[in-house]
Amino acid sequence: MPRFFVYLCSMKRIENYDLSSHNTFGMKIRCALYIEYETVEELQNLPWKELPQPIMHIGAGSNLLFTGDFPGTVLHSAVKYIKFVDMGLDEVLMTVGAGVVFDDFVARCCEVGLWGAENLSLIPGEVGASAVQNIGAYGVEAKDIIAGVVCLDTTDWSKTIFKTPELAYGYRDSMFKHAKGRYIVTSVLFRLTRKYSPKLDYGGVRAALEGRDLTALTPADVRDAIIGIRRAKLPDPAEKGSAGSFFKNPVISREHFERIEAVAASHAAAGSPAPSVPHFDLPDGTVKVPAAWLIDSLGFRGAVNGGAKVYEKQPLVIVNESGSATPEEIMALEQDIISKIRETYGIELHPEVEHI
Ligand code: EPU
Repeated sequence: MPRFFVYLCSMKRIENYDLSSHNTFGMKIRCALYIEYETVEELQNLPWKELPQPIMHIGAGSNLLFTGDFPGTVLHSAVKYIKFVDMGLDEVLMTVGAGVVFDDFVARCCEVGLWGAENLSLIPGEVGASAVQNIGAYGVEAKDIIAGVVCLDTTDWSKTIFKTPELAYGYRDSMFKHAKGRYIVTSVLFRLTRKYSPKLDYGGVRAALEGRDLTALTPADVRDAIIGIRRAKLPDPAEKGSAGSFFKNPVISREHFERIEAVAASHAAAGSPAPSVPHFDLPDGTVKVPAAWLIDSLGFRGAVNGGAKVYEKQPLVIVNESGSATPEEIMALEQDIISKIRETYGIELHPEVEHI
């Protein structure tokens, strides 16, 4: 059988495709063409110039807000494998296809007793996107366990391997985000360890394990605790559409933070004590302020605009409450929050969610 025919057989290729099940906000939008490939060779051999433009690659759509129908081609990886490379001693390398659901990878690590990924349990999304977005939770970021990233460079279709230091990882940031569209992540190399190394210092994690012997935990124990914390705070995308945290947590100077404390004190009801503003001092002297607190302090918890709503249990999240919220309704709420926070605190909130 000719090679080309084999590729066409295993690939999903659908025109005028409904992307509702490919964005966790549940926006009912369409793209001109949707292609899901199962091998890197299929991706390499696509007739790129003939595809409807522009071309974008998605993961699980868990960090995207589609603002309207997409006129071009949406690509999605169904490259799903998890391979272990035992390095002897404590270290285990894992090479994982970009299309693997990130939490399936975390579950697998925990099942076989490997440490490193457990704090990232239940984060929606796929492995390829985790390396682009540097997803993070409970004191761990993807970059902490990524040893390298294998990509296809769309300028010459060559396979390119980056080592972690080359990827300029930062808070929800990487080189990939600044080289928009150039690289397609095809697999990620993770470094895990057998060595006992639970990370329990992030607020709430130790408390969730109260009563347990903290010297004899398994990665699965920590995973269970993290899942419990997340379920209590964050909406289940299967039940209520959202894209997790809508905004990034702002980092400001200490002097700016002191002004915010003064503003918060001036807002306190007469006779009641000034509220303490939660914050985390960063090593470079700057201060991270939880965006959730800023949003809550201005009364946005539970605020509704049409079908969109600020989630009651976690005001950093905007949900598609009605199931039929429009992008405009979500963005109006977003703009309202951004401008009130700017006016009150002089802080510019930046969305974490990518607008398409
Ligand atoms: N913080 C610490 N130490 C702590 C607690 C918090 O340094 O012990 C810092 C964190 O850096 C965090 C900020 O303070 O960024 C606020 O922390 P909080 O636990 O209130 O979390 P959050 O702002 O509600 C962030 C992530 C979530 C992640 C949680 C738990 C963002 C935009 N969101 O949310 O990620 O699950 O921390 O780690 O950074 C997501 O990205 O969609 C998401 C849900």
